[in-house]
Amino acid sequence: MTGTKKLYVKTYGCQMNVYDSERMAEALGAQGYEQVESPEGADMILLNTCHIREKAAEKVYSELGRFKPLREANPDLKIGVAGCVAQAEGEEIMRRQPMVDLVVGPQTYHRLPSMMEALGRGEKALDTEFPEEDKFAHLPKARLPKRGPTAFLTVQEGCDKFCSFCVVPYTRGAEVSRPADRLLREARDLVERGVREITLLGQNVNAYHGAGPDGGEWGLARLIREMARIDGLDRIRFTTSHPNDMEDDLIAAHGDCDKLMPYLHLPVQAGSDKVLKAMNRKHTAEQYIRLIERIRAVRPDLHLSGDFIVGFPGETEEDFQATLDLVETVGYGTAYSFKYSARPGTPAAERAMVDAAEADDRLQRLQALITKQQRATQDAMVGRTVSVLFEKPGRMPGQMVGKSEYLHAVHVDGPEGLAGQIAKVEIVESRPNSLSGRLLG
Ligand code: SAH
Ligand code: SF4
Ligand code: F3S
Repeated sequence: MTGTKKLYVKTYGCQMNVYDSERMAEALGAQGYEQVESPEGADMILLNTCHIREKAAEKVYSELGRFKPLREANPDLKIGVAGCVAQAEGEEIMRRQPMVDLVVGPQTYHRLPSMMEALGRGEKALDTEFPEEDKFAHLPKARLPKRGPTAFLTVQEGCDKFCSFCVVPYTRGAEVSRPADRLLREARDLVERGVREITLLGQNVNAYHGAGPDGGEWGLARLIREMARIDGLDRIRFTTSHPNDMEDDLIAAHGDCDKLMPYLHLPVQAGSDKVLKAMNRKHTAEQYIRLIERIRAVRPDLHLSGDFIVGFPGETEEDFQATLDLVETVGYGTAYSFKYSARPGTPAAERAMVDAAEADDRLQRLQALITKQQRATQDAMVGRTVSVLFEKPGRMPGQMVGKSEYLHAVHVDGPEGLAGQIAKVEIVESRPNSLSGRLLG
């Protein structure tokens, strides 16, 4: 490769896309591309997209439109679309936006190097297969530079759950788990590069069942326990889990694995059993609440996070009340709520929508309750001592910011050298989206 070309990557959607963007940038790095922070002056623009809700998918086309002047100024500029919109819409993207040179799905981006060669010949390139081979085994393994103290690591991809509203089983394909020894190796590499906290990722991460080096099959708990043996790795998290895959050993790990952080994102989506059934969630509200009780029994300080959909087809005011009741019962540290968006190809898209104004109103009421709980959980931290992994300087001079074990952002007055350190902090104040504290010792 000659010279350095500039690559601009923009990432939408979930953490798995963040991880994939890093891998794609590395794959293109081996082709002489260096990542830049802005699309101006780039030789290649890559949008790593999300298809989960209509708004997310439409954003891609408006963003592409904005690149027009850049392409006019530089006819050699290459534009690529990756991720879940690429998978769902394929060629349609090039029809709707002819400026697009490359469309690559989430399971084929290890083939980027040969696709780039096609682009070099002035051709267009499209690959949205679900190949048998493991893309991660085909990505470059060059020694990589130092990095920040936290990292994502995808351990499992795809989803077999087919919730009736969700595109993920179609855009990401069936559940596939990566072999445990490769994950342990990747975790050790990350630690050597300065990482102290790893978040294990999967669309359905607790469905992980990878081949163990001992010839057996490992579940997520086993993987976490083995990873916890790596010196220098201090914190382990995982996301996103499904209530039906929360096995006994994983619950136990929350009680006996010190490196596993007391924070769990466990989406339930709704509180009405009728709606849960229509969503094909295969669990009841009661089963979810019992499950939370079991996890809290081994880890009483666990902070819970969840996802909710309001205005699902057929949701009545009474059903919605059941969601509010569930939220009251569980008490979330954080939760994300979304208005139902009908996604082409999913079973629920065939059903009659809830009145839009009604759905908006429910979303606001749910968000108000969640905000209140979030605030109360945060306020309850004042006076407590937490352990913070510091990441970077805060917005104010002389300030550093990091995350507590409960994933709260915590600010302190402290030197830049704190970055990458874990320190005890006494929380003195709760602000709208963060805590501030005093360094101890
Ligand atoms: N695998 C995860 C998350 C998948 S997508 C899980 O099972 O929970 C993240 C969140 O987006 C979902 O939890 C859901 O709350 C929301 N979501 C998914 N499809 C949606 C749709 N069609 N409309 C609105 N929200 C949706
Ligand atoms: Fe989508 Fe349901 Fe799978 Fe989560 S579990 S990714 S919501 S189908
Ligand atoms: Fe979006 Fe795909 Fe993630 S649809 S949420 S980027 S799996």
